Amino acid sequence: MVAGKVFSVLPLLGLVLGASIRLDARQNDGSSNSTAGPYGLSNADCSNITLSIPVNTTLTNFTGVDNTYSNQSYITQQVIEFTQAQANWTSEHVSNATHTLNRTFSIAGTYCKPRQGGDNDVLINLVHGIGFDSSYWDFALSPEYSVVKVAASYGYATFRYDRIGTGKSETPKGGFEVARAQTEVAILQGVLGQLRNSTTVGGKQHNKIVGVGHSYGSVQTQAVTAQSPELLDAAVLTGFTTNSSNLGGYLTAGSYSIANRIFPDRLGDKPDTWLVTGSNASDITGFFFPPHYAPEAFDLARATEQPVTLGSLFTVGDVGGVAQNFTGPVQVVNGANDFIFCSSNCWAGPNGTDIPSGVKMLYPAASNFTSYIAEKTGHGITAHYSQPEVAREIVTWIQSQNL
Ligand SMILES: *[C@@H]1O[C@H](CO)[C@@H](O)[C@H](O)[C@H]1NC(C)=O
Ligand SMILES: *[C@@H]1O[C@H](CO)[C@@H](O)[C@H](O)[C@H]1NC(C)=O
Ligand SMILES: *[C@@H]1O[C@H](CO)[C@@H](O)[C@H](O)[C@H]1NC(C)=O
Ligand SMILES: *[C@@H]1O[C@H](CO)[C@@H](O)[C@H](O)[C@H]1NC(C)=O
Ligand SMILES: *[C@@H]1O[C@H](CO)[C@@H](O)[C@H](O)[C@H]1NC(C)=O
Ligand SMILES: *[C@@H]1O[C@H](CO)[C@@H](O)[C@H](O)[C@H]1NC(C)=O
Ligand SMILES: *[C@@H]1O[C@H](CO)[C@@H](O)[C@H](O)[C@H]1NC(C)=O
Ligand SMILES: *[C@@H]1O[C@H](CO)[C@@H](O)[C@H](O)[C@H]1NC(C)=O
Ligand SMILES: *[C@@H]1O[C@H](CO)[C@@H](O)[C@H](O)[C@H]1NC(C)=O
Ligand SMILES: *[C@@H]1O[C@H](CO)[C@@H](O)[C@H](O)[C@H]1NC(C)=O
Ligand SMILES: *[C@@H]1O[C@H](CO)[C@@H](O)[C@H](O)[C@H]1NC(C)=O
Ligand SMILES: *[C@@H]1O[C@H](CO)[C@@H](O)[C@H](O)[C@H]1NC(C)=O
Repeated sequence: MVAGKVFSVLPLLGLVLGASIRLDARQNDGSSNSTAGPYGLSNADCSNITLSIPVNTTLTNFTGVDNTYSNQSYITQQVIEFTQAQANWTSEHVSNATHTLNRTFSIAGTYCKPRQGGDNDVLINLVHGIGFDSSYWDFALSPEYSVVKVAASYGYATFRYDRIGTGKSETPKGGFEVARAQTEVAILQGVLGQLRNSTTVGGKQHNKIVGVGHSYGSVQTQAVTAQSPELLDAAVLTGFTTNSSNLGGYLTAGSYSIANRIFPDRLGDKPDTWLVTGSNASDITGFFFPPHYAPEAFDLARATEQPVTLGSLFTVGDVGGVAQNFTGPVQVVNGANDFIFCSSNCWAGPNGTDIPSGVKMLYPAASNFTSYIAEKTGHGITAHYSQPEVAREIVTWIQSQNL
């Protein structure tokens, strides 16, 4: 799986103007926080935009699966069989036949430009993981939890979008054929191509793009650095390592259940093929490290949880690999207690190393490789008390790479 497959000017400006602008921002804006950047936490000017992303890609065929599954027995049976022997499940259910997926996807996103200080020409593209939509990056608990607001406080523009099946983007019906990692990598490539080549987002072409992912969004961002390195100038992979040994533990703990039955009011329109974690306990086990988050943070994450298909869950390890030709800088950011990618202890790597620094093997040509581990933090980093510090760490690292 994940392991098996491989698996400016601004810094100067910030230094010179930092102190005085920080003061101004505080005076002008009650919500700004002394721990964020020089322009304060109210510096993001956001607008929603829906993109049409054409995809024309070759996919392998699933075989012997029910693409329109609709009962829990079937879902749990597939999870059991997959977690017991991933390679067997794949050789049994992924055939050598291929077909072309030629389809245009409707992708809902939000572009936020800094009100002050946005003259660096860098765009940060944010891709969320499983269980969330793009609000992961603008976590509404408090402004300092928002990567979007922290980025703007340092003068960076951001674009974030809802992956298919989440938020306001379209939801494909089937549980295997369309919503899967390979399709989502193609969508990300299409989004990045539009950001670079068209003026659809923010009214200009974006020549410098930093790809930031969380979890499955990092898997996709990593795959882009391997398959089409020209699309990204830097990568920040959060909630991501090359160790997939607890993927089965996560899928089992998740008790994945039909979303329209768990959240009928909110997700009642989703086809039965779309799944969420079965209970608060399932969600906490996979994504949280108790008690290191505000109770309100869990409530918010659970109340906005978004669904996923078996097709996506079972293909997470099928994309990505060594990014031979990626020469930009790479930062890897993890919660020390990540259950999914570190079996709850990111410090316990081979031979006295830590697990996240192993990602370096995917980046032989990167100009910089930095690994950051946040203590007392689980996989769903954004909801933990450490998030304000993590968000600053990401943005100041980007700044430190002269972007
Ligand atoms: C600013 O952030 C710090 C920690 O990051 C937090 O303790 C403090 O309460 C925040 N202040 C405001 C005004 O939000
Ligand atoms: C953008 O969409 C979100 C929900 O998807 C909504 O909460 C927000 O108000 C919208 N923002 C603008 C500026 O329209
Ligand atoms: C779609 O992909 C096929 C197979 O790779 C290729 O032959 C065709 O030219 C592509 N079409 C477009 C419109 O890009
Ligand atoms: C592969 O999948 C496509 C799309 O579902 C289907 O049309 C095609 O018949 C399949 N090919 C084989 C050999 O099963
Ligand atoms: C559940 O669905 C599968 C196919 O998806 C079907 O074969 C099975 O009979 C169904 N089981 C129950 C208990 O409804
Ligand atoms: C997986 O396949 C191998 C080789 O065919 C077989 O020996 C093994 O028993 C299978 N494992 C499971 C859990 O089915
Ligand atoms: C698929 O291709 C692999 C490698 O070429 C081969 O070993 C395997 O037998 C093929 N599987 C089927 C079902 O044809
Ligand atoms: C892809 O779909 C578009 C629109 O439906 C169609 O015009 C085009 O010919 C298709 N391309 C391929 C390679 O099938
Ligand atoms: C962007 O445009 C250039 C020049 O037209 C083209 O070569 C390139 O393939 C396009 N890239 C994407 C990702 O669309
Ligand atoms: C890296 O770039 C070289 C030269 O352009 C090319 O030959 C090679 O196939 C690329 N490697 C990968 C893994 O894309
Ligand atoms: C750990 O160290 C041993 C002895 O030096 C070496 O043989 C082994 O390959 C190392 N393992 C890893 C994963 O680096
Ligand atoms: C990578 O960048 C970080 C942050 O600027 C810096 O501290 C570190 O020394 C750099 N690493 C290397 C190997 O240059």
